[in-house]
Amino acid sequence: MTHIKVNVDGTVYEDDVEPRLLLAHYLRDRLGLTGTPIGCDTSNCGACTVDLDGATVKSCSVLAVQADGSEVTTVQGLARNGELTALQRAFHELHALQCGYCTPGMIMAARDLLRENPRPGPDEVRHALEGNLCRCTGYQNIVRAVLAASGQDTARSGQETAQEVRA
Ligand code: FES
Ligand code: FES
Repeated sequence: MTHIKVNVDGTVYEDDVEPRLLLAHYLRDRLGLTGTPIGCDTSNCGACTVDLDGATVKSCSVLAVQADGSEVTTVQGLARNGELTALQRAFHELHALQCGYCTPGMIMAARDLLRENPRPGPDEVRHALEGNLCRCTGYQNIVRAVLAASGQDTARSGQETAQEVRA
């Protein structure tokens, strides 16, 4: 077992974990943060996407021990005082989800895009989300939601500014 200390969504956790434990399983099974789903376990679907020290990663492709000493932000850490981010609200208001299984990963990947490129075009949104699969094939509204939120999220280390989302 290896001792790790990791800040997840603003809370510091210390645990002894097996070196082979995936970060995705650590988040879900050990910490109970089931907002990060596992869709494939083979780094193909993007459902498990989280932020690791500012880098967007698929948590099924990272070991929990690799997150030792790091800050992890999951989709559950985005809202502040119960208020959704502009990006989250855009997904909600523009019906950018069907079953919702891919949604956490889509939001984390789109959040990363908007930090790098606050006003992306449709093609840039589609390119940025290439690593995230939606089995319900609801891509049109997902792209619309990201475009609607563009320019309204900031890159302030995990804190988005909640502003009105353009329709
Ligand atoms: S569960 Fe990690 S990419 Fe599919
Ligand atoms: S909304 Fe069902 S997988 Fe994307």
